[in-house]
Amino acid sequence: MSIEYSGGEPKKDAPRKRKPEKDAQNKEKDREVLLHPDLHSEDDAEAGLRPKTMAEYIGQDTAKGNLAVFIEGAKRRHEPLDHVLLHGPPGLGKTTLAAIIAAELGVNLRKTSGPAIEKPKDLAALLTNLDENDILFIDEIHRMSRAIEEILYPAMEDRQLDIIIGQGPSAASICLELKNFTLVGATTRAGQLSAPLRDRFGIDLKLELYTPEELGGIVSRSAGILDVPTEPDGAIEIASRSRGTPRIANRLLRRVRDFAQVTGDGIITKKAADDALTRLGIDKIGLDEIDRRLLTGIIQNYGGGPVGLETLAATVNEEAVTIEDVYEPYLMRQGFLSRTLRGRCATRRAYEHLGLPYDGDGDQLSIL
Ligand SMILES: Nc1ncnc2c1ncn2[C@@H]1O[C@H](COP(=O)(O)OP(=O)(O)OP(=O)(O)O)[C@@H](O)[C@H]1O
Ligand SMILES: [Mg+2]
Repeated sequence: MSIEYSGGEPKKDAPRKRKPEKDAQNKEKDREVLLHPDLHSEDDAEAGLRPKTMAEYIGQDTAKGNLAVFIEGAKRRHEPLDHVLLHGPPGLGKTTLAAIIAAELGVNLRKTSGPAIEKPKDLAALLTNLDENDILFIDEIHRMSRAIEEILYPAMEDRQLDIIIGQGPSAASICLELKNFTLVGATTRAGQLSAPLRDRFGIDLKLELYTPEELGGIVSRSAGILDVPTEPDGAIEIASRSRGTPRIANRLLRRVRDFAQVTGDGIITKKAADDALTRLGIDKIGLDEIDRRLLTGIIQNYGGGPVGLETLAATVNEEAVTIEDVYEPYLMRQGFLSRTLRGRCATRRAYEHLGLPYDGDGDQLSIL
């Protein structure tokens, strides 16, 4: 099996980049955005931690169980796997799972990303270079242009590529037969996919935030690979402060390792993990400064809500899309935030967690 990368590293959503004029205010944030699940340059170290087989891929039991059946079915019939859409918040293992699917099927994986496919000929080159039953992985598929999407439809459905060659009067439309292939698309924003594109995926898998136990297993596995002595309690301590996200768990493990090696005896115990994470400003359940500002903002400035997403984003000096993709999933999962038709509300649990007096009407407007 070989993995090739076309079109360079996938770029992350442009709106997540901070605006230059906000730089001064962001100084403190630049300290280290430890809990941001997007890929940091430092996460290159991830490569060695990435599970390579289904057995090593911890958690996501529903998605994994279904996928195993579909893979086995395709293998028995000697057919390509149906097209797969993987969606869920950043850092949950979509790219990892795509590589595992290819490995389990014993086929090549060719990787690209939505924004990297600029012209129809880029897509044509990718598709015509695939071998029988290969996988084309398109990361951030929601960022693909409509023009490219339209070329993809017949390719996904009938293995046909309709492209126009040349320009003006000499332009000619040609139709190429493609080999069988599987498209695996990954997105953090399934809602932004057009309905016709989404409908063409036969397999739709949603990845969920991991439980602390599952993440504990991931931390222990990573600690083994990194050769850091870690007690089970230490792994669980890191896991329960990692916002249900393996990428964050691996990152916190590396930071805790630094503290344990420099200020302790190198062993990650519960206490060593707690000390290090507390020093890093990450509280008992994994909330950082921005989460706390977000919740206190809703409570102190807007009486607990409802407050609109854009207003909230301005309050904490973040982009709305970052709040939606990065902060909200975990705050909602913890039951600290509810989304209502009129905006976001802080729940009673949020008041309690922050030690603020609850005035009784914070979450009663919750409709959704
Ligand atoms: N189920 C898992 N078991 C063990 N480790 C995992 C699992 N899922 C993810 N990881 C770890 O988390 C890291 C991040 O996963 P991955 O890059 O696949 O996330 P992603 O969903 O593609 O993120 P993004 O949305 O940013 O592209 C991996 O390098 C891997 O080390
Ligand atoms: Mg990815």
